[in-house]
Amino acid sequence: MDLNKAYPCIDDLERATLRRLPNFASEYLRGGIGREVALTNNRQALDRLRFDASYIPDQDPGPVDLSTEVLGQQFSLPFGISPVGLSGLMWPRAVEILARAAVEAGIPMGLSHHATTHQSDFYRITGDHGWFQLYPARDDAMRRAMIDEALATGFKTLIVTVDIPGLTRRDRELRVGLSVPPRLNHQTLWQIVTHPRWALAAAFAGPPQFKNLLPYRPSGLSAKQQVAFFASFMDRPVCRQVLSDIRRQWPGKLVVKGVSGLVDAKAAMDCGADAVWVSNHGARQLDAAPASVEMLPAIRDGLGPRAEIFVDSGPRTGLDIARMLASGADFVFLGRPFIYGVGALGARGGRHAIHILREELNAALVQIGCQRPSELPRFLAPCVGA
Ligand SMILES: Cc1cc2nc3c(=O)[nH]c(=O)nc-3n(C[C@H](O)[C@H](O)[C@H](O)COP(=O)(O)O)c2cc1C
Repeated sequence: MDLNKAYPCIDDLERATLRRLPNFASEYLRGGIGREVALTNNRQALDRLRFDASYIPDQDPGPVDLSTEVLGQQFSLPFGISPVGLSGLMWPRAVEILARAAVEAGIPMGLSHHATTHQSDFYRITGDHGWFQLYPARDDAMRRAMIDEALATGFKTLIVTVDIPGLTRRDRELRVGLSVPPRLNHQTLWQIVTHPRWALAAAFAGPPQFKNLLPYRPSGLSAKQQVAFFASFMDRPVCRQVLSDIRRQWPGKLVVKGVSGLVDAKAAMDCGADAVWVSNHGARQLDAAPASVEMLPAIRDGLGPRAEIFVDSGPRTGLDIARMLASGADFVFLGRPFIYGVGALGARGGRHAIHILREELNAALVQIGCQRPSELPRFLAPCVGA
């Protein structure tokens, strides 16, 4: 099959994925929170940004070079794969598929603390292209043990996600009967039997489990208590003292993810973060959250030119990646688009999603008249956000 013809863009992969997945998985993946105002705004805020293209430059800018260095690591492209929990529910072995594609493309990938793949299996594939994402446990001793385990696995970069201070209520998940971890009931069983391709792949992989949390689960819990444990072990805001404590314990690079404004960005840097990751969690937490791209200019101004700033939430095209880089980010991450790739195409999906974004980004830079991602800010049109 000619993938460029069948799936020319990420939106095509999304449509195919949403058809192939049982509802409890597709609604979990695509959904935002509340009335999904923030989800719509993540898209609209990007659509508003324009570039002043330069078609008559003083001299030929030469071929585009997309390679980028962040956290002292060299990557082939200025974008990477955000951590997505329970991705084995959306497509069995999605983590392994994406990890291989990330290494092949020379880009980083975050492994969710809520992944269905064990961290050692992931690190074996990615090496230092793999970063570990942590939800700091409410219990200090448990949190320190989890960090020690990530260190012993070999990770050099730790992502601490701060934007889940408590449980959320997502209407789509409630409607389709999804529990975390997922349990079978007549509603979910019916969805499975009516999606045989997914069911077959899932049957080979076995039921998805939170493999990185299992060792920390107290023994002797009933099924109901287990659901409560997984839902609440991190049910607490990540205050400054916790972040500083993590900084003291973690000798590698520390990235704080889930920053939505300058106050938190400064707090994260004060606590010793090496980079901040501007995100509204793909609009899954607060329906009144600003779009990340709207907050980038103020965060860049406030932290200064030398701070390393990453961003996600919303981009679906290479042009969107350019828009985020032009607005103040050094590096862009995407969550759902890569899962859409795997959901649509299985083992080939990670590679094809990266291919689409690489080609689109390259074409955008050529059109704008810009040779490197770091030059993009000077091409952003002055009417930004208007
Ligand atoms: C289904 C789903 C699960 C997610 N799980 C996690 C997670 O376990 N840890 C985390 O830090 N972020 C998680 N996120 C947020 C992503 O890392 C990322 O911030 C978000 O997907 C970016 O928005 P995008 O999907 O529009 O690219 C999740 C997002 C989705 C859609």
